[in-house]
Amino acid sequence: MTSPVRPLAVGSFTAPNNLWLAPMAGVTDGPFRALCLRGGAGVACAEMVSAHALHYANPRSLRMLRVDEREKPVSMQIFGSDEQTIAEAARAAEERGADIVDINAGCPVKKINKAGAGCVLMKDPVHLGHLVAAAVKAVKVPVTLKTRIALKRGVILGDEIAHIAESEGASAVVIHGRAAEDMHSGEPNLDAVAKVCARVKIPVIGNGGICNGKTAQAFFDVGCAGVMIGRAAVGNPFIFRDIAQELAGQVPAPLDNRRRVEIYLALIEENIARYGEKIGVGRSKKTAGYWLRDFPNAAEVRGRFVRLETLADIRALFASITF
Ligand SMILES: Cc1cc2nc3c(=O)[nH]c(=O)nc-3n(C[C@H](O)[C@H](O)[C@H](O)COP(=O)(O)O)c2cc1C
Repeated sequence: MTSPVRPLAVGSFTAPNNLWLAPMAGVTDGPFRALCLRGGAGVACAEMVSAHALHYANPRSLRMLRVDEREKPVSMQIFGSDEQTIAEAARAAEERGADIVDINAGCPVKKINKAGAGCVLMKDPVHLGHLVAAAVKAVKVPVTLKTRIALKRGVILGDEIAHIAESEGASAVVIHGRAAEDMHSGEPNLDAVAKVCARVKIPVIGNGGICNGKTAQAFFDVGCAGVMIGRAAVGNPFIFRDIAQELAGQVPAPLDNRRRVEIYLALIEENIARYGEKIGVGRSKKTAGYWLRDFPNAAEVRGRFVRLETLADIRALFASITF
């Protein structure tokens, strides 16, 4: 069997491979993206950025678009609800180095939905199509749409939405194989993903619960041209390389816990260099559960870690772990 891992052309941009890091707010910042790209990701998606906040030149949102060469290729994701701000945000992302601009039409978070953005856009596919068209018109880089198979389980909309996105000029569709009401849990509905793949000619990138070669292969088997990996990359940024090896019939060496903690410490250091000690340490703590695990006193170490504020204290704590 030949491996499905290969370069992926999305409009005018060709990614070196088709195993991509999914966008995750609070997680896929520059330092983490650089790490995943070193770990074999073909493209690393940035955290979603509010088009509305960019319109008002919100410093935090503008900072989220900052990218250096180690963090590329990057797909920058924007969310919003009207054509003008989406077009402006797409331009802002392109100007700051986005290789791809992605529009979020899958986020189920209430605050985002109340503002008419994220998964609620699926309720009005025609309007969603207008947003895609506005972004496509605004930039030269490819525009993609990240959406879901459905809002409610059993009422499949993903194929229709992908079709509209394609008609309006999207260069690819990312499809999360879960309904919005399922948030991030449960098995992906591969039949619904297959329906999306059958409906459009542009590449479909499948997402949801991918954590190894077998779960990635299942998406390729239903017609996906690529896959996106989210949570399984947190705590193992080498998962892209591991999956590529598995799909090529090799057996990847598992990441040992000592090495996992070393990588986490290096990431914390990168975060501090980027954001300063207070914010850098604070951001790093959000993903502690993914990194500090599978060693005997992991729960106790996590409990102590969340109360620490300085790099020196974190180094001392991590040095005391017995693996
Ligand atoms: C903490 C967290 C933050 C997320 N933030 C975003 C986001 O900013 N944009 C987006 O499109 N999806 C976001 N997602 C959804 C992921 O991109 C992905 O679709 C989801 O986690 C399913 O993939 P997985 O099962 O591989 O984790 C987020 C998920 C998590 C867990």
